[in-house]
Amino acid sequence: MATGYKMPKDFLWGGAVAAHQLEGGWNAGGKGVSIADVMTAGRNGVPRKVTDGVKDGEIYPNHWGNDFYHRYPEDIKLFEEMGFKCFRTSIAWTRIFPNGDEAEPNEAGLKFYDDMFDDLLAHGIQPVITLSHFEIPYHLVKEYGGFSNRKMIDFFLHFAKTVFKRYKNKVKYWMTFNEINNQTAWSDPHPLLQNSGLELGKHDNWEQAMYQAAHYELVASALAVQAGHEINPDFQIGCMIAMCPIYPLTAKPQDIMMAERAMQKRYWFGDVHCRGEYPAWLPKYFERKGFDMDITAADLATLKAGTVDYVGFSYYMSFVTKDQGDDPEYDFKEPDDFVENPYVEKSDWGWQIDPTGLRYAMNWMEDRWHLPQFIVENGFGAYDKKQADGSVHDDYRISYFRDHIKAMEEAVALDGVNLIGYTPWGCIDLVSASTGEMAKRYGFIYVDADDNGEGSFDRSKKDSFNWYKDVIASDGENL
Ligand code: BG6
Repeated sequence: MATGYKMPKDFLWGGAVAAHQLEGGWNAGGKGVSIADVMTAGRNGVPRKVTDGVKDGEIYPNHWGNDFYHRYPEDIKLFEEMGFKCFRTSIAWTRIFPNGDEAEPNEAGLKFYDDMFDDLLAHGIQPVITLSHFEIPYHLVKEYGGFSNRKMIDFFLHFAKTVFKRYKNKVKYWMTFNEINNQTAWSDPHPLLQNSGLELGKHDNWEQAMYQAAHYELVASALAVQAGHEINPDFQIGCMIAMCPIYPLTAKPQDIMMAERAMQKRYWFGDVHCRGEYPAWLPKYFERKGFDMDITAADLATLKAGTVDYVGFSYYMSFVTKDQGDDPEYDFKEPDDFVENPYVEKSDWGWQIDPTGLRYAMNWMEDRWHLPQFIVENGFGAYDKKQADGSVHDDYRISYFRDHIKAMEEAVALDGVNLIGYTPWGCIDLVSASTGEMAKRYGFIYVDADDNGEGSFDRSKKDSFNWYKDVIASDGENL
């Protein structure tokens, strides 16, 4: 399909991953234990468990990932063959500071990323780096309570400055905290652990703990943005928001109000990152809930001085809510207050497929934050079937991407959104963050490994590999 739209020549087509989901080598080169290393395998509909340290007899899929740690030169050649201009990954904090509170970094960890970035650059691919992608050192969780502790700001900043300095001539695009707003679903413990390192059962009031941890993360992010710009004024440092627009179920005014509050609750993180201040409704909310927040005047000045350069975001799906009928405050609670959208299909994992939602979200963010945007995750998790001849016919994935890239191009060509790049999630099969499965595959590149880490780990091209290669070669015109 020819869309008639072309993205600019310098558009950053690429792919995205996160260190803990593909590297493996969980204790190689002096790496410490991260929170991802104590999360067991789950399944579709079966949540992952968090164990108190690494336990014998449990299965921890992030320990092996897809073995990128040992195989990245082969993978980078495949990325180059697809025409990638950039590759988004994260730096595992525990490779650099195994416990997180050391004064000196681990040289072997720093060297791993030096070598990998050099290899990318030698193949014409620029690294795009997330500092914290669900990989907080486990020691910081146990000893300090993760981001419930203000000291985490200093640990994060030390980590950020160390890698900013080391890679200042190799990396231009950075992001601070992956999907910082996903912890809004505070009734589910995993987002709290993954985003902020908050442990189950350690806080009487989970919602207050989430807001407090998020505040410290936002301050840490703002300080990192300022430090990064001092280290290299050319750095582009963004936030990373999980963008799932929340629609009202009907035109009933109360449904509209509920959806508005739902969007406020999910995207205030972006308001602070992009505008440097809390939106008006939130201090009122803290007051009404009786939350005793540690937010100082100095913090507020830091937030104002450390706004981001661009909005990095993931887009997978949209949600729907409706008025619950009995609450003048419209205290939307995620995920309890979601309802079914009768107009969209779902993936096998129940994720709503809504390409128009991507265009809608891009317009909404442009109007609200007035910053360049970067789609750093988008993709379709599916059960792939490898044929006897090694091929994988993933037309469902091609169809998902075709519709979403078209919506993205319309947002740029018709609506004027300033978009830097597009990096589909899990460009090579890796371990799912929510379920720990390999079976939930996103890649253009198939990895021969199962949920228990059995298999050859050999790489092969799916049908989507050549399709995406043609998309990039035609600047997005051939879908
Ligand atoms: C995002 C995360 O939530 O979505 C990734 O940033 C994650 O880490 C991706 O892998 C897809 O989710 P999942 O649960 O299917 O792996």
